[in-house]
Amino acid sequence: MLALCETETQAAADNFRQAMRHLASGVSIITAGTGADRSGFTATSVVSLSVYPPRLLVSIDERSATWPLIELNGGFTANLLSSGQKHLAEVFAGRTGLHGAERFVGSEWREYLYAGFALEGALATVHCRLEEVIERHGHRLVIGEVLGSRTLVAGALVYIGGRFTAL
Ligand SMILES: Cc1cc2nc3c(=O)[nH]c(=O)nc-3n(C[C@H](O)[C@H](O)[C@H](O)COP(=O)(O)O)c2cc1C
Repeated sequence: MLALCETETQAAADNFRQAMRHLASGVSIITAGTGADRSGFTATSVVSLSVYPPRLLVSIDERSATWPLIELNGGFTANLLSSGQKHLAEVFAGRTGLHGAERFVGSEWREYLYAGFALEGALATVHCRLEEVIERHGHRLVIGEVLGSRTLVAGALVYIGGRFTAL
């Protein structure tokens, strides 16, 4: 009976993962930290929770190296990637083997004290103060109070079918 349940659970997870491959998502890099003590990761779970008041929601794996820096500094920045920033999406997803501050080398960043780093050439940057954290299923659902945002006119980078695609 237990084995059957586990099989069903695994099948449900596989089906769900497959279904989510069809969800086209914008691609962001979430950054946090100060100075050289910085970190960032590629994320698609970035949601506009509310416009009035402005609040951003991100789901972060509890094993993320960036989460402790968000908690410590009380803030983060979401950088929504533009169509030419696929390489950075790969780097910040850990696919090139780089970690922490190493991932920032070679591109231009502007520090917002205690609220992470803004990427030059990003489609949009949203700076947040950590407002609330909900722990669920090995993730931190992080709600950010938006301190400020900036946008560029450019194409977007999206993730669908397991691939990054320029729009
Ligand atoms: C397309 C894509 C979307 C991702 N979205 C998220 C996300 O929303 N939340 C998250 O915690 N990790 C997400 N990840 C995984 C992290 O980018 C990856 O685990 C990264 O290496 C974490 O950095 P770290 O090793 O420095 O903790 C995503 C990865 C990819 C390729």
